Amino acid sequence: MSSPMDLYEQLTAQGLAVRHIKAQKGNKAEVESAVQLLLRMKEDYKLLTGQDYQAGRPPTHTEDDDSGPAEDDEDDQVNPWNVSTSSAKGVDYDKLIVRFGSCKIEQELVDRIARVTGKTPHHFLRRGIFFSHRDMHQILDAYESRKSFYLYTGRGPSSGAMHVGHLIPFLFTKWLQDVFDVPLVVQMTDDEKYLWKDLSLEDCHRYTLENARDIIACGFDPDKTFIFSDLDYMGASPSFYRNVVKVQKHVTFNQVKGIFGFTDSDCIGKISFPAIQAAPSFSNSFPQIFGDRNDVQCLIPCAIDQDPYFRMTRDVAPRIGYLKPALLHSTFFPALQGAQTKMSASDANSSIFLTDTAKQIKNKVNKHAFSGGKDTVEEHRKLGGNPDVDVSFMYLTFFLEDDEQLEKIRQDYRSGALLTGELKKCLIETLQPMIAAHQERRKLVTDETVRQFMTPRKLLFNC
Ligand code: TRP
Repeated sequence: MSSPMDLYEQLTAQGLAVRHIKAQKGNKAEVESAVQLLLRMKEDYKLLTGQDYQAGRPPTHTEDDDSGPAEDDEDDQVNPWNVSTSSAKGVDYDKLIVRFGSCKIEQELVDRIARVTGKTPHHFLRRGIFFSHRDMHQILDAYESRKSFYLYTGRGPSSGAMHVGHLIPFLFTKWLQDVFDVPLVVQMTDDEKYLWKDLSLEDCHRYTLENARDIIACGFDPDKTFIFSDLDYMGASPSFYRNVVKVQKHVTFNQVKGIFGFTDSDCIGKISFPAIQAAPSFSNSFPQIFGDRNDVQCLIPCAIDQDPYFRMTRDVAPRIGYLKPALLHSTFFPALQGAQTKMSASDANSSIFLTDTAKQIKNKVNKHAFSGGKDTVEEHRKLGGNPDVDVSFMYLTFFLEDDEQLEKIRQDYRSGALLTGELKKCLIETLQPMIAAHQERRKLVTDETVRQFMTPRKLLFNC
């Protein structure tokens, strides 16, 4: 039963039943078991709707969705497999924070990160690209009293080619690793891509190795970074598999149906996969790094569409005796065609690939980047452009590091002083050297380097 409304009604009925049994002065065991059932149902309800059950207050946004994920809201769809909205400005992230029950990254948190690390916050933090979090203050409290943590992020290798959007979490994770000086584990979910896509196991595994090169090229410290393929590590690490099984035992089919929208015709691999994405959140999944310690706190930088996995993880963690992982969520990287949707690795023109040549970058931006400019130069000069929907401007907020220059571009574009062609030129000149430098670094990543990063081993870790 996965509709929030159904569950709400059952809960109301169960609440009445408990009262009735108590009023009848029923025997203790009977009261106890009715209360236990009520509590379990309340947990299911919270997971399904993100809201606490309150008698007399039906769930909001129910619309009879008995198969879709619980988080669909009006036009914005955000879940691990689909991100779309009807607004050209993109998804309404403030609403998403409320719907997911996470916390907004306020200026105060950004300032605190600066204080604790003694470093200027990354521009992704300064500009609200990482915009939401769970328990980040706890990470900082602990860090200030010299208790370290580790980072966990991942990638689903669905093809050999990655685009610039895929770099966002990794660029930010690299910065976090540098400023906090902490170990990092990177999960390559080749198993997930095999289960969801029409790909062979061997292809998925090959993509893992290809993508690992791009990840390594972001500059991670080999002494502090472990990258693993699920297909390899699951079989090689008894500790990891034990955690997978623990999670599997504590999450019901009802719950994953509610969180992920699985239906009766999804293969059973999909249904149990969330436990595999949860396991790296617990430090004893990596005994070679943390020994048998299960109390090293985990921090997960990821795009907000991955949050359902970690809501589930945070829900089970205390029930299996582990700490809840903390999270930092990013917004989505828009497709060249506009912010209505996330980029697709299967549409070559929807994004800039890490393999694109300078010429391809120039052509793609000029031809495909959705413009917030006016149709004619005269009109544009008179009325100005709209940077809020302009994809070239959005890309600059991701990749142009100079705050002042970015602000000047924004103002000049809005006033009409800067034309669309000039804005695009600016983006092209920012992307070309960035991608070329990435390609140079990737060339230096040998098979041996990949093997080194992917070998289970001790990492530098000062707890
Ligand atoms: N499911 C993610 C994807 O398809 C991959 C992933 C696994 C991940 N673990 C993660 C992403 C942790 C962010 C954080 O891309």
